Amino acid sequence: MLMSLLQVAFLDQVAWGVFSMEKIGRTSVSLETREAFQNGHRLRIGARAFDMLEVLIQARGKIVTKNQIMSHVWPDLVVEEGNIHVHLSALRKQLGADGRAIQTVPRRGYRLVPLDDDTSVHQSKNSAIPSTSPSIEFEPLPICYTPLIGRENEIGEITSALQDTPVVTLLGPGGAGKTHLAIEAAQSMRANGRVDVCFLSLAPVLRREQVLNAAAEAFGIEPFDELLLLPKLLGAVADRRILLVLDNCEHMLEEAARLTERLVQASANLRVLATSREALRSRNETLHWVAPLATPGVDATHREILACPSVETFLAFAASWTSDLTKEPENVDMIGSVCRQLDGLPLALELAASRARVFGMRQLACEVADDPFRTLIGGRRTAPARQRTLLGMLDWSYQLLGELERVVLHKLAKISGHFHLDHAQTVAAVDRVSKGDVTEAIAGLVSKCLVIRTPGGEKDDYYLLGTTREYALRKLDRPPKIGEGPLERTRHRDRSAEGRSTARASTHFASPGNGRRHRA
Ligand SMILES: Nc1ncnc2c1ncn2[C@@H]1O[C@H](COP(=O)(O)OP(=O)(O)OP(=O)(O)O)[C@@H](O)[C@H]1O
Ligand SMILES: [Mg+2]
Repeated sequence: MLMSLLQVAFLDQVAWGVFSMEKIGRTSVSLETREAFQNGHRLRIGARAFDMLEVLIQARGKIVTKNQIMSHVWPDLVVEEGNIHVHLSALRKQLGADGRAIQTVPRRGYRLVPLDDDTSVHQSKNSAIPSTSPSIEFEPLPICYTPLIGRENEIGEITSALQDTPVVTLLGPGGAGKTHLAIEAAQSMRANGRVDVCFLSLAPVLRREQVLNAAAEAFGIEPFDELLLLPKLLGAVADRRILLVLDNCEHMLEEAARLTERLVQASANLRVLATSREALRSRNETLHWVAPLATPGVDATHREILACPSVETFLAFAASWTSDLTKEPENVDMIGSVCRQLDGLPLALELAASRARVFGMRQLACEVADDPFRTLIGGRRTAPARQRTLLGMLDWSYQLLGELERVVLHKLAKISGHFHLDHAQTVAAVDRVSKGDVTEAIAGLVSKCLVIRTPGGEKDDYYLLGTTREYALRKLDRPPKIGEGPLERTRHRDRSAEGRSTARASTHFASPGNGRRHRA
């Protein structure tokens, strides 16, 4: 029992005759004679496959990259990577159940790992394989190229929330800095808490059935048998101190919520830090509101402007090409005004700074005032499409809306500044849209962070960020058409009656004014 708890080592060296035998589960391997045996029977392992086994054994549990395999197995040849898969799969087949000891480390290579059910062998002292199972080696966290600005207290808030609750979702509008904040919080937890961090971005996952595969890959599980993926995944996290950063869940909410619940059930030590433009609504979820960065008021002094986190962030993005942007006093006013018009959204500020590099501050200020969607288009080539342009940033949210939400958003864009629900109903409940429809649509828009709710005295206040409003007004050129059939009154992705009821219930979600943290 104790053995299995410790997941005893699988590879041993035993003297067998004059040869030293390596053990992988129930398989004995002689590197000298290049033979492998199971229950006294010699396995039929081809020469290339044996070379692979050899290099894995010699690595003693460390990762062997594909390049290392290539140069060991085909030292003088350039071969297609597919050859590795062919011989590896032949090797695994020969090893049978012991083939599970060859683990794929996503995008890095392969290594030998202990088999959980192997209690038959003890580890010899001179084995280079660790006696307890090694922690899973995850992909490194993505790199953030600018320091995190203006969120000094939030890292502490998030990490302490993750002590009390298994799931924390960083919720906020597009480009507010959710992913950056999640990465910094994860780094801090890893440094302080000896927790392994697994980063899984759902942004590139476009089909719901791919979510589980993506998670399995992040945990180094081979996609060989769909049915076994979930049990294997749950087995991989059991009893491990893991922080899963589940990034950009907004288009896969149900799948992300389901995955999160299963993982949390499987391991009391697992924590999930999700980022999303809409809450997961999974069990035990705590929301942390990621507000845009503070912007200077219209009457702010230069000193106040320069002390604003959004301005600091703009200057940090600009620092890659200039360090003296603020030497000209008039630039300070223009930077303050650009940050204000872009709502202090770090992604928009990044796009603006890269535009200013080409055309200078004065031109940027004119363009942002005139048509930011046409000009803020020069994002990083390596960024995902939704982050390369200001339009893309909002399109990503817009395409997740239902028809009714789109129609109401367009109507709400005509209101400038804050509004109450009854005012919104007067403006938007026209044609075939009832007041009830408007309420339901606003609930959806609030939960998707396209309308912001701030609790007021008697009545709550609602407003659209300037960029959202501008976007919706521009879309008025091509307003959404209400179909001939019954108006689709539900959320775009809700596929069930449950979805409809949760959409209605969401009126009180995503409320920055309720404080940054609240339980769903
Ligand atoms: N507080 C901050 N200080 C400095 N840079 C920041 C800050 N927040 C975000 N950034 C930078 O702004 C850009 C956009 O941030 P990020 O990708 O985290 O936004 P997001 O909210 O996750 O966007 P999306 O909704 O598209 O997923 C990134 O380059 C990021 O490094
Ligand atoms: Mg993100």
